[in-house]
Amino acid sequence: MDSPVLNQLFRQLFRHPACQSLPSIRSLPPGRPQSIRQSATSRSQCRSFLTRRTPGKRKSADDGMMWNRRGDYPKDISEEFKTYPLVTAKDLRHRRERPRQVKMMTREFIDDSLYNPHYGYFSKHATIFSPGEPFDFNNISDGPAFHRLLGERYTEFEDRLDETQPDEARQLWHTPTELFRPYYGETIARYLVSNYKLTLYPYHDLIIYEMGAGNGTMMLNILDFIRDTDHEVYQRTKFKIIEISPSLASLQMKNLRDSLNAGGHINHVEIINRSIFDWNTYVHSPCFFLALEVIDNFSHDAIRYDYKTELPQQGGVLIDADGEFHEFYSTRLDPLASRFLRVRQAAAQRPFPSPLGPKLLRGLRNAAPFHPEVTLPEYIPTRLMQFFDILDSYFPGHRLIASDFNKLPDAVPGLNAPVVQTRYKRRTVPVSTPFVHQGYFDIFFPTDFNVVEDIYRAITGKLTQVMSHEDFMRRWAYIEDTETRNGENPLLTWYKNASMLMTV
Ligand SMILES: C[S@@+](CC[C@H](N)C(=O)[O-])C[C@H]1O[C@@H](n2cnc3c(N)ncnc32)[C@H](O)[C@@H]1O
Repeated sequence: MDSPVLNQLFRQLFRHPACQSLPSIRSLPPGRPQSIRQSATSRSQCRSFLTRRTPGKRKSADDGMMWNRRGDYPKDISEEFKTYPLVTAKDLRHRRERPRQVKMMTREFIDDSLYNPHYGYFSKHATIFSPGEPFDFNNISDGPAFHRLLGERYTEFEDRLDETQPDEARQLWHTPTELFRPYYGETIARYLVSNYKLTLYPYHDLIIYEMGAGNGTMMLNILDFIRDTDHEVYQRTKFKIIEISPSLASLQMKNLRDSLNAGGHINHVEIINRSIFDWNTYVHSPCFFLALEVIDNFSHDAIRYDYKTELPQQGGVLIDADGEFHEFYSTRLDPLASRFLRVRQAAAQRPFPSPLGPKLLRGLRNAAPFHPEVTLPEYIPTRLMQFFDILDSYFPGHRLIASDFNKLPDAVPGLNAPVVQTRYKRRTVPVSTPFVHQGYFDIFFPTDFNVVEDIYRAITGKLTQVMSHEDFMRRWAYIEDTETRNGENPLLTWYKNASMLMTV
């Protein structure tokens, strides 16, 4: 890594350390239990930059936007605020340099930070761990022994990468698809084939879309399983990957070509290197649509509420000429954020959490002498709503199978707030704000499956089922495959904080 970038990174790590440095679940180094129950976050002790805000606020005359001086960076930016243009991640796509002298809404900043083709997180440093040989769970003594073994494989994997391409800032994470290969893919395949045979066979082919396929392991494991268990269905199976990252799309193709069954599978597969948000092809056939650990990276907007009026304000960031970040809020919501709030209000089948707290306590709190004027931010999944629009417009016959985290330890302050973390010299470092050096931080969000299910139903008109990851595995996996000798089962006990949403 070049030293100006390193300096910038360290300045930001120093300025925004998280309250504790427990690695979050996605890049948790092996050797620690992965349940949310062990997270024991100490966020109540954490003083974020939001709580350090000084009372000095300025209001711009015409656009309803307010910036907030931060105690740790007390520069007056009211002039810049008036003159800098408001840009989107799309506007910055062709820029090789991180932007300066601009304003961005929070979701656009996060999108740019994760997905900019030149400096975005997914463009270079992100690597998904692959254990190589599958783990032989039945011959591993117990859970801790599995942790140790995984730790060794992790180190070997990274040592091998370092031999050819040393990278102190490599972002390495693991997913259940990789840890439990091939059993995890086989579990999903069992679900797909059963549902296909029940409702579509023999009138339609089995068409599977996978959005965000990582190393391509799910595709290989599903195709192997179908070929081995139902040759007739295999003949009619088409597997299409939609992958935003050029490097992961080529890795998926390489892994397909290198696989033992490449010759057979290759005619069943299409790898489309594109963001789902750029999708513009109408797919009239019925299809299954997999989204496994992808929606957590879909960008969110930050909304805070005035305690007195309960009116929302939308968050953004101003980047000054020195590349420093200044958070601001606008009382005028943009169309996407306000649509989300409207759709949620109309679609919600049950009360949803608010940073304003329970209705009954609001009066009491407002009467208290020293209470803040505004809430902590709530992060709303605006991009996820747009993904549902895309499913509805272009994949009318889809059936979604989405899996993701329903809670995350070590998140930044706020409701539905993301984990923001980087990895440096093989150590995970969480920080307390999303406004950090673009491209070096994974930013991923928990999913409120209750709210998201209602929104999905409202947009697509389809019926759904939400279940815990564990229940899905109990229903569809051959759980003996992942049982250790003492009867523990990491497939069931890890990922306790994950849920699945399926179209029924
Ligand atoms: C955490 S990885 C999960 C990989 C894989 N599904 C697994 O479980 O092993 C997220 C994947 O989604 C891809 N991705 C993220 N945003 C995307 C988007 N907007 N369109 C398509 N792919 C996306 C990433 O490049 C990556 O392959």
